[in-house]
Amino acid sequence: MSTPISPSNAVTSPAARAPWWRDAVVYQVYVRSFADADGDGVGDLAGIIDHLDHLEALGVDAVWLTPCYPSPQLDHGYDVADYFDIEPAYGDLGTFDRLVAEARSRSIRVLMDVVPNHCSSQHGWFQAALAAAPGSPERARFYFRDGRGPRGDLPPNNWRSVFGGSTWTRITEPDGTPGQWYLHTFSPWQPDFDWSNPDVAAMFDSMLTFWFDRGVEGFRVDAVAVVGKAPGLPDAPPVAENTAENDAWSHNPYTVFWPDAHAHWRSWRRLVERYEDEHPGRELVTVSEAYTPDRPDLLLQYVNPDEFHQSFCFDLMLAPWRVDTLRATIEPVYDALTAAGAPLTWTINNHDTQRSVTRYGRADATELSSWTKNNLVYTGTEVDAVLGTLRARAAITLAAALPGSLYLYQGEELGLPEVLDLPDSVRQDPIFFRTDGREIGRDGCRVPLPWSADPLTSFGFSATRASGPGAPWLPQPSDWGTYSADAQQDDPASVLHLYRRLLSARRAVLDPDAGLDWWDALHPDVLALRRGGVAVVLNVGEHRVALHDALPGYDGAAVLVASVVGHDDPAHLPGNTCCWIQLR
Ligand code: NOJ
Repeated sequence: MSTPISPSNAVTSPAARAPWWRDAVVYQVYVRSFADADGDGVGDLAGIIDHLDHLEALGVDAVWLTPCYPSPQLDHGYDVADYFDIEPAYGDLGTFDRLVAEARSRSIRVLMDVVPNHCSSQHGWFQAALAAAPGSPERARFYFRDGRGPRGDLPPNNWRSVFGGSTWTRITEPDGTPGQWYLHTFSPWQPDFDWSNPDVAAMFDSMLTFWFDRGVEGFRVDAVAVVGKAPGLPDAPPVAENTAENDAWSHNPYTVFWPDAHAHWRSWRRLVERYEDEHPGRELVTVSEAYTPDRPDLLLQYVNPDEFHQSFCFDLMLAPWRVDTLRATIEPVYDALTAAGAPLTWTINNHDTQRSVTRYGRADATELSSWTKNNLVYTGTEVDAVLGTLRARAAITLAAALPGSLYLYQGEELGLPEVLDLPDSVRQDPIFFRTDGREIGRDGCRVPLPWSADPLTSFGFSATRASGPGAPWLPQPSDWGTYSADAQQDDPASVLHLYRRLLSARRAVLDPDAGLDWWDALHPDVLALRRGGVAVVLNVGEHRVALHDALPGYDGAAVLVASVVGHDDPAHLPGNTCCWIQLR
Protein backbone atom coordinates (compact mmCIF):
# COMPACT_ATOMS: atom_id res chain seq x y z
CA MET A 1 0.00 0.00 0.00
CA SER A 2 1.03 3.59 -0.45
CA THR A 3 2.30 5.62 2.47
CA PRO A 4 -0.67 7.47 3.96
CA ILE A 5 -0.36 11.20 3.56
CA SER A 6 -0.67 13.21 6.71
CA PRO A 7 -0.33 16.95 7.10
CA SER A 8 3.19 16.36 8.40
CA ASN A 9 4.53 14.63 5.30
CA ALA A 10 2.32 16.23 2.64
CA VAL A 11 3.93 18.82 0.41
CA THR A 12 2.01 21.82 1.62
CA SER A 13 1.98 25.46 0.71
CA PRO A 14 2.34 28.11 3.35
CA ALA A 15 -1.00 29.25 4.68
CA ALA A 16 -2.50 32.40 3.26
CA ARG A 17 -0.77 31.88 -0.04
CA ALA A 18 -2.37 30.98 -3.34
CA PRO A 19 -2.42 27.24 -4.00
CA TRP A 20 0.95 25.81 -5.01
CA TRP A 21 -0.11 25.12 -8.58
CA ARG A 22 -1.04 28.72 -9.33
CA ASP A 23 2.55 29.62 -10.29
CA ALA A 24 4.12 26.17 -10.33
CA VAL A 25 6.59 24.82 -12.85
CA VAL A 26 5.43 21.38 -13.93
CA TYR A 27 7.70 19.06 -15.91
CA GLN A 28 6.06 16.67 -18.34
CA VAL A 29 7.64 13.21 -18.34
CA TYR A 30 6.87 11.20 -21.46
CA VAL A 31 7.49 7.99 -19.58
CA ARG A 32 8.45 5.85 -22.59
CA SER A 33 11.26 8.19 -23.55
CA PHE A 34 12.61 9.57 -20.29
CA ALA A 35 14.96 6.89 -18.91
CA ASP A 36 15.09 3.12 -19.19
CA ALA A 37 16.34 1.47 -16.01
CA ASP A 38 15.76 -2.15 -17.00
CA GLY A 39 17.40 -2.02 -20.41
CA ASP A 40 14.49 -3.05 -22.62
CA GLY A 41 14.69 0.10 -24.73
CA VAL A 42 11.54 1.61 -23.20
CA GLY A 43 11.54 4.20 -20.42
CA ASP A 44 10.11 3.20 -17.05
CA LEU A 45 9.25 4.43 -13.57
CA ALA A 46 12.53 3.24 -12.06
CA GLY A 47 14.30 5.34 -14.72
CA ILE A 48 12.39 8.39 -13.51
CA ILE A 49 13.42 7.70 -9.93
CA ASP A 50 17.06 7.45 -11.06
CA HIS A 51 16.88 10.95 -12.54
CA LEU A 52 14.93 12.82 -9.89
CA ASP A 53 18.13 14.67 -8.99
CA HIS A 54 18.08 16.23 -12.45
CA LEU A 55 14.54 17.48 -11.87
CA GLU A 56 15.36 18.74 -8.40
CA ALA A 57 18.38 20.65 -9.70
CA LEU A 58 16.23 22.08 -12.47
CA GLY A 59 13.88 23.41 -9.82
CA VAL A 60 10.49 22.02 -10.84
CA ASP A 61 7.53 21.85 -8.47
CA ALA A 62 5.83 18.82 -9.97
CA VAL A 63 6.07 16.18 -12.66
CA TRP A 64 3.20 15.15 -14.90
CA LEU A 65 3.54 11.56 -16.05
CA THR A 66 2.00 10.74 -19.42
CA PRO A 67 -0.33 7.74 -19.09
CA CYS A 68 1.51 4.86 -17.43
CA TYR A 69 -1.43 2.47 -17.09
CA PRO A 70 -1.49 -0.96 -18.73
CA SER A 71 -1.91 -0.35 -22.43
CA PRO A 72 -1.21 -2.01 -25.76
CA GLN A 73 0.72 1.24 -26.49
CA LEU A 74 -0.94 1.82 -29.85
CA ASP A 75 -1.10 5.50 -28.90
CA HIS A 76 1.65 5.10 -26.32
CA GLY A 77 -0.56 4.96 -23.27
CA TYR A 78 -3.42 7.17 -24.47
CA ASP A 79 -5.11 3.83 -25.08
CA VAL A 80 -5.71 2.68 -21.51
CA ALA A 81 -6.56 -0.97 -20.87
CA ASP A 82 -6.85 -0.67 -17.08
CA TYR A 83 -7.13 2.61 -15.18
CA PHE A 84 -6.16 1.05 -11.85
CA ASP A 85 -2.72 -0.39 -12.47
CA ILE A 86 0.71 0.32 -13.97
CA GLU A 87 1.90 -0.75 -17.41
CA PRO A 88 4.15 -3.78 -16.76
CA ALA A 89 6.85 -2.44 -19.11
CA TYR A 90 7.01 0.66 -16.86
CA GLY A 91 6.98 -1.09 -13.47
CA ASP A 92 4.29 -1.88 -10.94
CA LEU A 93 2.28 -0.21 -8.20
CA GLY A 94 5.14 -0.69 -5.73
CA THR A 95 7.54 1.19 -8.00
CA PHE A 96 4.93 3.86 -8.51
CA ASP A 97 4.56 4.33 -4.75
CA ARG A 98 8.35 4.55 -4.45
CA LEU A 99 8.41 7.21 -7.17
CA VAL A 100 5.77 9.29 -5.38
CA ALA A 101 7.66 9.00 -2.07
CA GLU A 102 11.08 9.77 -3.58
CA ALA A 103 9.68 12.73 -5.47
CA ARG A 104 7.94 14.02 -2.36
CA SER A 105 11.19 13.81 -0.41
CA ARG A 106 12.54 16.33 -2.95
CA SER A 107 9.38 18.50 -2.70
CA ILE A 108 8.28 17.40 -6.16
CA ARG A 109 4.63 16.48 -6.55
CA VAL A 110 3.44 13.80 -8.97
CA LEU A 111 0.57 14.40 -11.37
CA MET A 112 -0.89 11.72 -13.61
CA ASP A 113 -2.69 11.84 -16.94
CA VAL A 114 -6.31 10.74 -17.11
CA VAL A 115 -7.89 9.83 -20.44
CA PRO A 116 -11.67 10.15 -20.04
CA ASN A 117 -12.84 10.28 -23.64
CA HIS A 118 -11.77 6.81 -24.67
CA CYS A 119 -10.01 3.68 -23.52
CA SER A 120 -8.11 0.95 -25.34
CA SER A 121 -9.99 -1.56 -27.42
CA GLN A 122 -8.31 -4.07 -25.05
CA HIS A 123 -10.08 -2.58 -22.01
CA GLY A 124 -12.23 -5.20 -20.25
CA TRP A 125 -15.40 -3.19 -20.81
CA PHE A 126 -14.84 -2.93 -24.54
CA GLN A 127 -13.97 -6.61 -24.85
CA ALA A 128 -17.18 -7.41 -22.95
CA ALA A 129 -19.11 -5.12 -25.29
CA LEU A 130 -17.74 -6.94 -28.33
CA ALA A 131 -18.83 -10.25 -26.83
CA ALA A 132 -22.30 -8.95 -25.89
CA ALA A 133 -25.31 -8.40 -28.10
CA PRO A 134 -26.42 -5.16 -29.76
CA GLY A 135 -28.51 -3.17 -27.29
CA SER A 136 -26.84 -4.81 -24.27
CA PRO A 137 -25.73 -2.82 -21.19
CA GLU A 138 -22.12 -3.70 -22.10
CA ARG A 139 -22.44 -1.93 -25.46
CA ALA A 140 -24.22 1.02 -23.86
CA ARG A 141 -20.96 2.19 -22.23
CA PHE A 142 -19.67 3.04 -25.72
CA TYR A 143 -21.24 4.31 -28.93
CA PHE A 144 -22.31 1.21 -30.84
CA ARG A 145 -24.69 1.91 -33.70
CA ASP A 146 -26.07 0.07 -36.72
CA GLY A 147 -24.57 1.11 -40.04
CA ARG A 148 -26.41 2.95 -42.77
CA GLY A 149 -27.45 1.51 -46.12
CA PRO A 150 -29.52 -1.61 -46.80
CA ARG A 151 -26.76 -3.90 -45.53
CA GLY A 152 -25.58 -1.57 -42.79
CA ASP A 153 -22.18 -1.34 -44.39
CA LEU A 154 -21.94 2.43 -44.34
CA PRO A 155 -20.76 4.25 -41.22
CA PRO A 156 -23.56 5.65 -39.03
CA ASN A 157 -22.52 9.26 -39.77
CA ASN A 158 -19.91 11.32 -41.61
CA TRP A 159 -17.67 12.27 -38.67
CA ARG A 160 -13.92 12.39 -39.29
CA SER A 161 -11.42 11.18 -36.74
CA VAL A 162 -8.54 13.23 -35.35
CA PHE A 163 -5.94 10.76 -36.59
CA GLY A 164 -7.43 10.42 -40.07
CA GLY A 165 -10.28 8.44 -41.63
CA SER A 166 -13.81 7.89 -40.34
CA THR A 167 -14.62 7.90 -36.64
CA TRP A 168 -16.40 4.58 -37.09
CA THR A 169 -15.19 1.00 -37.32
CA ARG A 170 -17.40 -1.98 -38.01
CA ILE A 171 -17.14 -5.05 -35.84
CA THR A 172 -17.78 -8.71 -36.51
CA GLU A 173 -20.48 -9.97 -34.17
CA PRO A 174 -19.74 -13.02 -31.97
CA ASP A 175 -21.67 -15.20 -34.44
CA GLY A 176 -19.31 -14.19 -37.27
CA THR A 177 -21.67 -11.85 -39.12
CA PRO A 178 -20.76 -8.27 -40.06
CA GLY A 179 -22.10 -6.23 -37.20
CA GLN A 180 -22.53 -2.84 -35.60
CA TRP A 181 -20.11 0.07 -35.77
CA TYR A 182 -18.42 1.78 -32.84
CA LEU A 183 -17.27 5.38 -32.57
CA HIS A 184 -13.66 6.43 -31.97
CA THR A 185 -12.69 10.09 -32.09
CA PHE A 186 -9.00 9.16 -32.42
CA SER A 187 -8.04 5.69 -33.73
CA PRO A 188 -9.98 2.41 -33.97
CA TRP A 189 -7.90 1.22 -31.00
CA GLN A 190 -9.45 3.97 -28.83
CA PRO A 191 -13.24 3.50 -28.53
CA ASP A 192 -15.08 6.52 -27.06
CA PHE A 193 -16.95 6.13 -23.80
CA ASP A 194 -20.57 7.24 -23.75
CA TRP A 195 -20.53 9.62 -20.78
CA SER A 196 -24.30 9.70 -20.60
CA ASN A 197 -23.97 6.19 -19.14
CA PRO A 198 -23.61 6.45 -15.32
CA ASP A 199 -21.19 3.47 -15.24
CA VAL A 200 -18.61 5.62 -16.97
CA ALA A 201 -18.72 8.52 -14.52
CA ALA A 202 -18.68 6.10 -11.59
CA MET A 203 -15.61 4.29 -12.92
CA PHE A 204 -13.68 7.55 -13.29
CA ASP A 205 -14.72 8.72 -9.83
CA SER A 206 -13.20 5.56 -8.37
CA MET A 207 -10.14 5.96 -10.51
CA LEU A 208 -9.39 9.52 -9.39
CA THR A 209 -9.80 8.52 -5.76
CA PHE A 210 -7.65 5.41 -6.20
CA TRP A 211 -4.68 7.51 -7.37
CA PHE A 212 -5.26 10.36 -4.90
CA ASP A 213 -5.06 7.70 -2.18
CA ARG A 214 -1.65 6.70 -3.55
CA GLY A 215 -0.39 10.27 -3.20
CA VAL A 216 -1.01 11.68 -6.67
CA GLU A 217 -1.57 15.44 -6.39
CA GLY A 218 -3.60 15.90 -9.52
CA PHE A 219 -4.28 15.05 -13.13
CA ARG A 220 -3.74 16.41 -16.58
CA VAL A 221 -7.03 15.62 -18.29
CA ASP A 222 -6.79 14.45 -21.88
CA ALA A 223 -8.89 15.64 -24.81
CA VAL A 224 -11.71 17.21 -22.79
CA ALA A 225 -13.10 19.08 -25.81
CA VAL A 226 -14.44 15.92 -27.44
CA VAL A 227 -16.01 14.31 -24.39
CA GLY A 228 -19.77 14.45 -24.97
CA LYS A 229 -21.71 14.09 -28.21
CA ALA A 230 -24.96 15.49 -29.52
CA PRO A 231 -27.89 13.11 -29.00
CA GLY A 232 -28.63 11.19 -32.17
CA LEU A 233 -25.07 11.76 -33.46
CA PRO A 234 -26.21 13.83 -36.48
CA ASP A 235 -24.04 14.26 -39.57
CA ALA A 236 -21.56 17.12 -39.21
CA PRO A 237 -21.96 20.04 -41.60
CA PRO A 238 -19.59 19.89 -44.60
CA VAL A 239 -16.20 21.52 -44.07
CA ALA A 240 -14.71 24.10 -46.44
CA GLU A 241 -12.94 22.52 -49.36
CA ASN A 242 -9.49 23.73 -48.42
CA THR A 243 -9.71 22.29 -44.88
CA ALA A 244 -6.58 20.31 -44.04
CA GLU A 245 -7.11 16.60 -43.57
CA ASN A 246 -5.86 16.78 -40.00
CA ASP A 247 -8.23 19.63 -39.19
CA ALA A 248 -11.59 18.37 -40.52
CA TRP A 249 -12.58 16.79 -37.20
CA SER A 250 -12.20 20.07 -35.32
CA HIS A 251 -15.12 21.62 -37.22
CA ASN A 252 -17.64 19.07 -35.97
CA PRO A 253 -20.02 21.03 -33.73
CA TYR A 254 -21.72 17.84 -32.53
CA THR A 255 -18.79 16.76 -30.43
CA VAL A 256 -16.08 19.45 -30.28
CA PHE A 257 -16.89 21.65 -27.26
CA TRP A 258 -20.26 19.91 -26.90
CA PRO A 259 -21.62 21.54 -23.73
CA ASP A 260 -22.98 18.47 -21.93
CA ALA A 261 -19.53 17.39 -20.79
CA HIS A 262 -19.22 20.34 -18.41
CA ALA A 263 -21.57 18.66 -15.95
CA HIS A 264 -18.99 15.88 -15.58
CA TRP A 265 -16.12 18.29 -14.96
CA ARG A 266 -18.21 20.06 -12.33
CA SER A 267 -18.78 16.73 -10.67
CA TRP A 268 -15.01 16.03 -10.75
CA ARG A 269 -14.33 19.37 -9.09
CA ARG A 270 -16.77 18.52 -6.32
CA LEU A 271 -15.06 15.15 -5.88
CA VAL A 272 -11.63 16.83 -5.66
CA GLU A 273 -12.85 19.37 -3.12
CA ARG A 274 -14.51 16.71 -1.01
CA TYR A 275 -11.26 14.77 -1.08
CA GLU A 276 -9.32 17.83 0.06
CA ASP A 277 -11.81 18.45 2.86
CA GLU A 278 -11.44 14.88 4.03
CA HIS A 279 -7.63 14.94 3.74
CA PRO A 280 -6.32 18.14 5.27
CA GLY A 281 -2.97 19.16 3.83
CA ARG A 282 -3.73 17.90 0.37
CA GLU A 283 -3.99 20.51 -2.39
CA LEU A 284 -4.99 18.87 -5.66
CA VAL A 285 -5.04 20.19 -9.19
CA THR A 286 -6.66 19.27 -12.49
CA VAL A 287 -5.46 20.76 -15.76
CA SER A 288 -7.50 20.36 -18.90
CA GLU A 289 -6.18 19.82 -22.38
CA ALA A 290 -8.44 21.79 -24.71
CA TYR A 291 -7.13 23.58 -27.79
CA THR A 292 -9.18 26.79 -27.97
CA PRO A 293 -7.48 28.78 -30.73
CA ASP A 294 -8.08 32.53 -30.28
CA ARG A 295 -11.02 31.82 -27.98
CA PRO A 296 -10.32 32.82 -24.37
CA ASP A 297 -14.07 32.67 -23.84
CA LEU A 298 -13.98 28.94 -24.60
CA LEU A 299 -10.94 28.46 -22.40
CA LEU A 300 -12.87 30.04 -19.55
CA GLN A 301 -15.56 27.42 -19.90
CA TYR A 302 -12.98 24.89 -18.68
CA VAL A 303 -10.84 26.84 -16.22
CA ASN A 304 -13.12 28.19 -13.53
CA PRO A 305 -13.87 27.55 -9.87
CA ASP A 306 -16.47 24.92 -10.76
CA GLU A 307 -14.46 22.91 -13.25
CA PHE A 308 -10.74 22.58 -13.93
CA HIS A 309 -8.18 24.39 -11.79
CA GLN A 310 -6.07 25.06 -14.88
CA SER A 311 -6.37 24.78 -18.64
CA PHE A 312 -3.45 25.08 -21.05
CA CYS A 313 -3.16 28.36 -22.98
CA PHE A 314 -1.86 26.64 -26.13
CA ASP A 315 -1.94 29.62 -28.47
CA LEU A 316 1.50 30.79 -27.38
CA MET A 317 2.97 27.41 -28.31
CA LEU A 318 1.47 27.57 -31.78
CA ALA A 319 2.28 31.18 -32.64
CA PRO A 320 4.70 32.32 -35.34
CA TRP A 321 7.82 34.16 -34.21
CA ARG A 322 6.48 37.71 -34.56
CA VAL A 323 5.71 40.52 -32.17
CA ASP A 324 2.08 40.82 -33.27
CA THR A 325 1.24 37.14 -33.02
CA LEU A 326 3.08 36.55 -29.77
CA ARG A 327 1.32 39.45 -28.15
CA ALA A 328 -2.00 38.35 -29.62
CA THR A 329 -1.57 34.99 -27.90
CA ILE A 330 -0.81 36.44 -24.49
CA GLU A 331 -2.80 39.64 -24.11
CA PRO A 332 -6.39 38.51 -24.78
CA VAL A 333 -5.96 35.35 -22.71
CA TYR A 334 -4.33 37.27 -19.89
CA ASP A 335 -7.06 39.93 -19.96
CA ALA A 336 -9.96 37.50 -20.10
CA LEU A 337 -8.69 35.02 -17.54
CA THR A 338 -7.42 37.62 -15.12
CA ALA A 339 -10.70 39.52 -15.26
CA ALA A 340 -12.46 36.28 -14.37
CA GLY A 341 -9.97 35.45 -11.60
CA ALA A 342 -8.86 32.33 -13.51
CA PRO A 343 -5.25 31.14 -13.45
CA LEU A 344 -3.00 31.11 -16.51
CA THR A 345 -1.16 28.01 -17.67
CA TRP A 346 1.60 28.42 -20.26
CA THR A 347 3.61 25.96 -22.29
CA ILE A 348 5.76 26.10 -25.40
CA ASN A 349 6.34 22.36 -25.89
CA ASN A 350 4.54 19.08 -25.46
CA HIS A 351 4.54 15.53 -26.80
CA ASP A 352 2.11 16.38 -29.63
CA THR A 353 3.97 19.33 -31.12
CA GLN A 354 7.19 19.82 -33.02
CA ARG A 355 9.91 20.91 -30.58
CA SER A 356 10.42 24.67 -30.21
CA VAL A 357 14.04 24.64 -31.43
CA THR A 358 12.85 23.26 -34.76
CA ARG A 359 9.62 25.26 -34.97
CA TYR A 360 11.48 28.52 -34.52
CA GLY A 361 14.35 27.44 -36.80
CA ARG A 362 12.09 26.64 -39.72
CA ALA A 363 12.19 28.78 -42.82
CA ASP A 364 8.50 29.63 -42.27
CA ALA A 365 8.80 30.41 -38.54
CA THR A 366 7.82 34.05 -38.98
CA GLU A 367 5.04 33.48 -41.47
CA LEU A 368 1.41 33.59 -40.51
CA SER A 369 0.95 30.33 -42.39
CA SER A 370 3.04 28.53 -39.78
CA TRP A 371 0.34 29.21 -37.17
CA THR A 372 -1.75 26.14 -36.30
CA LYS A 373 -1.11 22.49 -36.39
CA ASN A 374 0.86 22.23 -39.60
CA ASN A 375 3.88 21.08 -37.65
CA LEU A 376 2.69 17.51 -38.03
CA VAL A 377 2.88 17.62 -41.79
CA TYR A 378 6.09 19.61 -42.00
CA THR A 379 8.87 17.50 -43.45
CA GLY A 380 11.00 20.34 -44.79
CA THR A 381 14.65 20.09 -43.94
CA GLU A 382 15.25 23.81 -43.99
CA VAL A 383 15.79 24.20 -40.29
CA ASP A 384 18.42 26.54 -38.94
CA ALA A 385 19.21 24.86 -35.64
CA VAL A 386 21.40 27.70 -34.39
CA LEU A 387 18.71 30.30 -35.00
CA GLY A 388 16.02 27.96 -33.71
CA THR A 389 17.94 27.44 -30.49
CA LEU A 390 18.49 31.16 -30.03
CA ARG A 391 14.78 31.80 -30.46
CA ALA A 392 13.73 28.84 -28.31
CA ARG A 393 15.95 30.19 -25.53
CA ALA A 394 14.29 33.58 -25.91
CA ALA A 395 10.81 32.03 -26.02
CA ILE A 396 11.24 30.17 -22.72
CA THR A 397 12.70 33.31 -21.17
CA LEU A 398 9.48 35.08 -22.12
CA ALA A 399 7.17 32.24 -21.08
CA ALA A 400 8.90 31.80 -17.71
CA ALA A 401 8.21 35.46 -16.93
CA LEU A 402 4.47 35.32 -17.52
CA PRO A 403 2.06 35.24 -14.59
CA GLY A 404 0.64 31.80 -13.88
CA SER A 405 2.10 28.35 -14.12
CA LEU A 406 4.51 26.93 -16.66
CA TYR A 407 4.54 23.41 -18.06
CA LEU A 408 7.82 22.13 -19.54
CA TYR A 409 8.19 19.12 -21.79
CA GLN A 410 11.10 16.77 -21.14
CA GLY A 411 14.14 17.50 -23.29
CA GLU A 412 13.35 21.16 -23.90
CA GLU A 413 15.70 21.94 -21.00
CA LEU A 414 18.40 20.24 -23.08
CA GLY A 415 17.54 22.22 -26.21
CA LEU A 416 16.60 19.08 -28.14
CA PRO A 417 15.47 19.63 -31.69
CA GLU A 418 12.70 17.65 -33.40
CA VAL A 419 14.06 14.56 -35.12
CA LEU A 420 12.61 15.09 -38.58
CA ASP A 421 14.40 12.35 -40.48
CA LEU A 422 13.19 9.22 -38.71
CA PRO A 423 12.84 6.51 -41.34
CA ASP A 424 9.25 5.51 -42.11
CA SER A 425 10.10 1.98 -40.99
CA VAL A 426 10.57 3.06 -37.35
CA ARG A 427 7.66 5.47 -37.06
CA GLN A 428 5.06 4.48 -34.49
CA ASP A 429 2.55 7.32 -34.25
CA PRO A 430 -0.96 6.22 -35.28
CA ILE A 431 -1.26 9.54 -37.13
CA PHE A 432 1.40 8.34 -39.56
CA PHE A 433 -0.42 5.07 -40.24
CA ARG A 434 -3.96 6.45 -40.32
CA THR A 435 -2.97 9.07 -42.92
CA ASP A 436 -0.88 6.65 -45.00
CA GLY A 437 2.18 8.71 -44.18
CA ARG A 438 0.77 12.02 -45.42
CA GLU A 439 1.28 13.35 -41.91
CA ILE A 440 4.54 12.32 -40.30
CA GLY A 441 3.06 12.61 -36.83
CA ARG A 442 4.67 13.16 -33.46
CA ASP A 443 7.47 10.60 -33.15
CA GLY A 444 10.11 13.27 -33.75
CA CYS A 445 9.49 14.94 -30.38
CA ARG A 446 9.39 11.61 -28.53
CA VAL A 447 12.87 10.28 -29.24
CA PRO A 448 14.44 8.94 -26.01
CA LEU A 449 16.41 11.49 -24.01
CA PRO A 450 20.22 11.70 -24.00
CA TRP A 451 21.69 11.68 -20.50
CA SER A 452 25.35 11.06 -21.34
CA ALA A 453 27.70 11.19 -24.29
CA ASP A 454 28.06 7.40 -24.37
CA PRO A 455 26.54 5.95 -27.57
CA LEU A 456 26.96 2.41 -26.22
CA THR A 457 24.27 3.02 -23.62
CA SER A 458 21.93 4.90 -25.96
CA PHE A 459 23.43 8.11 -24.60
CA GLY A 460 22.63 7.11 -21.06
CA PHE A 461 18.95 6.45 -21.82
CA SER A 462 19.28 2.73 -21.36
CA ALA A 463 21.36 0.26 -19.47
CA THR A 464 21.87 -1.71 -22.68
CA ARG A 465 23.42 -1.31 -26.10
CA ALA A 466 22.08 1.12 -28.65
CA SER A 467 21.35 -1.57 -31.23
CA GLY A 468 19.83 -5.03 -31.21
CA PRO A 469 17.50 -6.17 -28.43
CA GLY A 470 17.05 -3.38 -25.93
CA ALA A 471 17.70 -0.63 -28.49
CA PRO A 472 15.69 2.51 -27.76
CA TRP A 473 12.16 2.22 -29.07
CA LEU A 474 12.88 5.12 -31.44
CA PRO A 475 16.43 5.55 -32.75
CA GLN A 476 18.43 8.50 -31.47
CA PRO A 477 20.44 10.71 -33.86
CA SER A 478 24.20 10.16 -33.80
CA ASP A 479 24.86 13.64 -32.38
CA TRP A 480 22.38 13.17 -29.48
CA GLY A 481 25.23 13.02 -26.96
CA THR A 482 26.10 16.67 -27.56
CA TYR A 483 22.68 17.58 -26.10
CA SER A 484 23.03 15.27 -23.11
CA ALA A 485 22.48 16.41 -19.57
CA ASP A 486 26.06 15.37 -18.72
CA ALA A 487 27.50 17.42 -21.57
CA GLN A 488 25.65 20.52 -20.32
CA GLN A 489 26.11 20.00 -16.61
CA ASP A 490 29.11 22.31 -16.18
CA ASP A 491 28.53 24.63 -19.11
CA PRO A 492 27.04 27.97 -18.04
CA ALA A 493 26.27 28.74 -21.68
CA SER A 494 24.11 25.63 -22.07
CA VAL A 495 20.35 25.53 -22.46
CA LEU A 496 20.20 23.49 -19.26
CA HIS A 497 21.83 26.27 -17.27
CA LEU A 498 19.47 28.83 -18.79
CA TYR A 499 16.48 26.78 -17.63
CA ARG A 500 17.94 26.45 -14.15
CA ARG A 501 18.60 30.18 -13.98
CA LEU A 502 15.11 31.03 -15.19
CA LEU A 503 13.36 28.73 -12.73
CA SER A 504 15.35 30.01 -9.82
CA ALA A 505 14.99 33.67 -10.86
CA ARG A 506 11.26 33.16 -11.28
CA ARG A 507 11.05 32.24 -7.61
CA ALA A 508 13.47 34.87 -6.45
CA VAL A 509 12.43 38.01 -8.30
CA LEU A 510 8.94 37.65 -9.74
CA ASP A 511 6.06 38.47 -7.48
CA PRO A 512 3.47 35.79 -8.34
CA ASP A 513 0.73 38.33 -7.70
CA ALA A 514 2.20 40.95 -10.00
CA GLY A 515 0.06 41.53 -13.08
CA LEU A 516 1.28 42.16 -16.57
CA ASP A 517 1.52 45.60 -18.19
CA TRP A 518 2.56 46.23 -21.77
CA TRP A 519 4.89 48.82 -23.17
CA ASP A 520 3.86 49.82 -26.64
CA ALA A 521 5.89 51.10 -29.52
CA LEU A 522 9.33 50.53 -28.07
CA HIS A 523 10.47 49.16 -31.40
CA PRO A 524 8.61 47.16 -34.07
CA ASP A 525 10.69 44.06 -33.30
CA VAL A 526 10.40 44.32 -29.54
CA LEU A 527 7.75 42.87 -27.28
CA ALA A 528 8.00 44.57 -23.91
CA LEU A 529 6.08 43.97 -20.74
CA ARG A 530 6.43 44.59 -17.05
CA ARG A 531 5.77 42.37 -14.06
CA GLY A 532 6.02 44.50 -10.96
CA GLY A 533 9.57 45.82 -10.86
CA VAL A 534 10.81 43.53 -13.64
CA ALA A 535 10.75 44.44 -17.33
CA VAL A 536 10.71 41.59 -19.84
CA VAL A 537 11.91 42.56 -23.29
CA LEU A 538 12.04 40.28 -26.32
CA ASN A 539 13.62 41.20 -29.63
CA VAL A 540 12.28 38.89 -32.35
CA GLY A 541 14.32 40.59 -35.07
CA GLU A 542 17.84 39.88 -36.26
CA HIS A 543 19.41 43.18 -35.26
CA ARG A 544 20.49 44.69 -31.99
CA VAL A 545 18.00 47.24 -30.71
CA ALA A 546 18.74 50.21 -28.48
CA LEU A 547 16.20 50.28 -25.67
CA HIS A 548 15.38 53.92 -25.21
CA ASP A 549 15.18 55.43 -21.79
CA ALA A 550 11.47 56.20 -21.92
CA LEU A 551 10.68 53.20 -19.76
CA PRO A 552 9.88 54.33 -16.26
CA GLY A 553 12.55 53.12 -13.86
CA TYR A 554 14.83 52.11 -16.70
CA ASP A 555 17.72 54.40 -15.77
CA GLY A 556 20.16 52.37 -13.74
CA ALA A 557 18.34 49.12 -14.51
CA ALA A 558 20.21 45.80 -14.44
CA VAL A 559 19.87 42.61 -16.47
CA LEU A 560 18.61 39.80 -14.22
CA VAL A 561 18.52 36.96 -16.73
CA ALA A 562 19.24 36.95 -20.43
CA SER A 563 18.51 34.20 -22.92
CA VAL A 564 22.00 34.68 -24.34
CA VAL A 565 25.01 34.16 -22.16
CA GLY A 566 26.98 37.11 -20.92
CA HIS A 567 24.54 39.80 -22.00
CA ASP A 568 24.46 42.36 -19.21
CA ASP A 569 23.76 45.63 -20.99
CA PRO A 570 20.21 46.78 -20.23
CA ALA A 571 20.43 49.57 -22.80
CA HIS A 572 20.67 47.18 -25.74
CA LEU A 573 18.96 44.00 -26.76
CA PRO A 574 20.62 41.65 -29.27
CA GLY A 575 18.51 39.99 -31.98
CA ASN A 576 16.38 36.96 -31.03
CA THR A 577 17.03 37.59 -27.37
CA CYS A 578 14.87 38.02 -24.31
CA CYS A 579 15.95 39.62 -21.02
CA TRP A 580 14.49 40.21 -17.63
CA ILE A 581 15.54 43.62 -16.39
CA GLN A 582 15.31 44.79 -12.83
CA LEU A 583 13.94 48.32 -12.91
CA ARG A 584 15.01 50.86 -10.36
C1 NOJ B 1 -4.16 14.21 -26.65
C2 NOJ B 1 -2.83 13.63 -26.26
O1 NOJ B 1 -1.96 14.66 -25.89
C3 NOJ B 1 -2.34 12.86 -27.46
O2 NOJ B 1 -1.00 12.45 -27.32
C4 NOJ B 1 -3.25 11.68 -27.67
O3 NOJ B 1 -2.85 11.00 -28.84
C5 NOJ B 1 -4.70 12.15 -27.82
N1 NOJ B 1 -5.09 13.14 -26.87
C6 NOJ B 1 -5.64 10.97 -27.69
O4 NOJ B 1 -5.70 10.55 -26.36
